[in-house]
Amino acid sequence: MTTKPPTPPTPPTPPSPPAEVTKPLDHTVDGRPYSPGLEGVLAAETSLGLVDGANGRLMYRGYRIGDLVAHGSYASVANLLWTGEWDPKARLTTGRVPSAVISTLRALPRTAKPMDALRTAVSVWGATQVLDWPPTAIQARALTEFSPSALAAFIRLREDLEPIDPDPKLDIVSGFLYQLTGVRPDRATARALDAYFIVGAEHGLNASTFAARVITSTRSDIASAVAGAIGAMKGPLHGGAPSEVVEQIHKVGSPEHAEEWIRDALARGERLMGFGHRVYRAYDPRATALRKVVEAMPARPDWLELAIKVEDVALRVLEEKYPDRPLKTNVEFYAAAVLQGVGLTPDLFPATFALARHAGWTAHVLEQASANRLIRPDARFIGVEERDLPT
Ligand code: COA
Repeated sequence: MTTKPPTPPTPPTPPSPPAEVTKPLDHTVDGRPYSPGLEGVLAAETSLGLVDGANGRLMYRGYRIGDLVAHGSYASVANLLWTGEWDPKARLTTGRVPSAVISTLRALPRTAKPMDALRTAVSVWGATQVLDWPPTAIQARALTEFSPSALAAFIRLREDLEPIDPDPKLDIVSGFLYQLTGVRPDRATARALDAYFIVGAEHGLNASTFAARVITSTRSDIASAVAGAIGAMKGPLHGGAPSEVVEQIHKVGSPEHAEEWIRDALARGERLMGFGHRVYRAYDPRATALRKVVEAMPARPDWLELAIKVEDVALRVLEEKYPDRPLKTNVEFYAAAVLQGVGLTPDLFPATFALARHAGWTAHVLEQASANRLIRPDARFIGVEERDLPT
């Protein structure tokens, strides 16, 4: 026999917001400046990534991004970020996925976004581990190795395929592609995606990295910090635009239409995806590094040839339109070329970016913990200050 659930009580009407809001007179409180979005505020010290936008330089622990891509691997870069030591032979593989994570991923709707699945997987992984304070490089490594396997498992499960166990002979990037597709990638493909992972590994105090540091500052664990960081990166203002670059190139259609399409798009007031940057006023050094890798790919699909043509035309037309404002290629343009070139579908681009950023997030977690101070800024109060309750 089933019993009828009791009718829930009608919720009380929420109080209406105060009609009167005190108007801020200026942008300071007690002489302290208010900076929306914390723009211009120095909120941490780091020795990890140095982003020099004016000169188009990016360095991890002082090493130029171009040199790291040319001579390193994602494993050596992650190790450099975690330990400060340069070991070109450092190795990372993909990790085992605990059964609790697999059961959870099976229970997700197959329409779940890969970023949601990854964030969920990291959260469940954290619940299966002993993650004592302070966080360690061993924890950072375990989480970085776990996530590619978990993402690959979800992608297979949503296609009614069984997850593939890690192959310990493969490095982390090849292992990810193998567990995703069941095929061990060739050297050029693995190399291209590894380069993408290197340039995506770290980029200063961006929103997701800051989120990871805030969570760590409460002495929470590394899995919570990375789950929060994935949540922050999921937002369209952060996760980047490589899938929009792919869409744009598809719209251009063929090299002979590139010039006309680009001029028309600019005339309609549209922005060209993969160009311009808030910080870099020169050619994005990550785009330079990835372009070299793309050019070295032995079999360049037609799509890539078209992308290269679109870039040449876009740079010329943007310079014509904005002679005083350097609008150069940004990382997203060649990220799209690499991700599409290695066979990933655009819906996987944001989560693949999140996998790459694991090295940076976890390095910031270690750095934050090593000189921890609870992050607790103030808000400028703009509501009604004090009044009596209505009688
Ligand atoms: N295509 C066309 N015009 C662009 C442009 C682009 N990609 N990027 C900037 N502009 C224009 C702006 O509209 C602005 O023109 P206006 O003065 O006529 O309004 C002028 O160039 C100066 O813009 P700027 O101040 O340099 O840009 P920003 O700092 O506000 O924006 C981005 C930076 C990244 C948001 C912007 O360049 C953009 O939208 N790029 C395309 C999206 C993209 O590739 N995002 C990934 C970034 S990693």
